[in-house]
Amino acid sequence: MDCYDRIDENARLWRYFHAGKNVLMLAPRRIGKTVLLNRLREESEGQGFHAIVLDVEGYRDEKAFFQQMCAAIQEEIGVGQAVIAALNERLKRVIHGAEVQGDWRNILLQTDWPVFADHLLTQLEAEKDGRPWLILVDEIPIFTLALLEETDGPRKAHDFLYTLRSLLQKHRKVLWLYTGSIGLDTLARRYGFEGALVDMEIFPLEPFNPTTAAGFLNHVASKSDCRFSPEAVARIIARLGWLAPYYLEKIAEAACDKTTAGQTIGTDAADQAADSLLELSRRTYWSTWREHLEKNFPEPERTHLFTILAEVAHGPAEGASVDSLLMALNRGGDPIGEAVLRDYLDTLEADGFLDGDVGRARFRFRMNLLREWWVRYVVTRGQA
Ligand SMILES: Nc1ncnc2c1ncn2[C@@H]1O[C@H](COP(=O)(O)OP(=O)(O)OP(=O)(O)O)[C@@H](O)[C@H]1O
Ligand SMILES: [Mg+2]
Repeated sequence: MDCYDRIDENARLWRYFHAGKNVLMLAPRRIGKTVLLNRLREESEGQGFHAIVLDVEGYRDEKAFFQQMCAAIQEEIGVGQAVIAALNERLKRVIHGAEVQGDWRNILLQTDWPVFADHLLTQLEAEKDGRPWLILVDEIPIFTLALLEETDGPRKAHDFLYTLRSLLQKHRKVLWLYTGSIGLDTLARRYGFEGALVDMEIFPLEPFNPTTAAGFLNHVASKSDCRFSPEAVARIIARLGWLAPYYLEKIAEAACDKTTAGQTIGTDAADQAADSLLELSRRTYWSTWREHLEKNFPEPERTHLFTILAEVAHGPAEGASVDSLLMALNRGGDPIGEAVLRDYLDTLEADGFLDGDVGRARFRFRMNLLREWWVRYVVTRGQA
């Protein structure tokens, strides 16, 4: 996957890593976190680092996390095999007398994971070429949620993140970037482990600005030998409202599909392309947003978030008022106060659904097209 632009973001991230800082990258869905992680990995050699990308979605316990990490290290061309061989030696030496058979996999099974992780990081730091390691962890909040679902989940999640924190402090030549499609900060706040993240540099990954978005639309169009008129670009930017590369790319591709090579795409074609993103056949482009709420929030929070979004989606163009949202939430069930609503609104803002006005009195969908999709495909008001 090509990574268009992101030049400033990239430079800033490398500055953090060269300064020995760990980073917590916060950004909503579909904004380009994974693309950026892969680019960092590709550039790592030139920057004097070893880097691995660790996608921990789908792993359910701490040992699986470190097993995956070892497997990714092993695949690192040039050094991986040697690091893991040295790790095997180290583990056999220090876990002496435990009658350990086989390699690190067996030892991991028989050892407490923090002890194993400590040895692994010590081994990475002992790498002969002296280069620091960069562990780029994607979807760590989903992994944390998986821990939370276990028996005694909150303690497990708390212990996992605090243990990682102390390992980060101890092993300074192994740097970490955490990211994922739900804000780890929101999760930390909800479950009370914010302290585990305090030393990390917060890096919010923003959408493209209008200039970059215009360049990107034409970059995608050029692959089909098309280009957008400036008016068409302005129309798309207005329709989208929030310039995530994913949706810009989808609109550009849809417009090019309907345009003969060599032609300029005008405003009508741009509008049609934006509309086509709401068609039944393309509804999955947006369904990640709904899934995000369905998968990652427990009841009754989930229903409350859907209620708020239904109200905002059907609300006035200037945004739904806090009073109207409170009324919607209090149509049934236990009474919900403004403090709880504010907490929900913070979550929906952090996760990219909504934006508040200056006084935080009214809230709107950040992406106009997502609002249109919500109205068309998600429950209507009153049913939420
Ligand atoms: N800088 C970029 N240049 C080109 N395309 C991009 C860029 N960033 C994102 N994209 C496009 O958007 C898609 C989504 O990006 P990516 O998977 O990195 O998002 P994400 O933030 O990891 O999303 P999720 O939260 O769903 O995991 C990519 O597959 C790619 O098509
Ligand atoms: Mg991703």
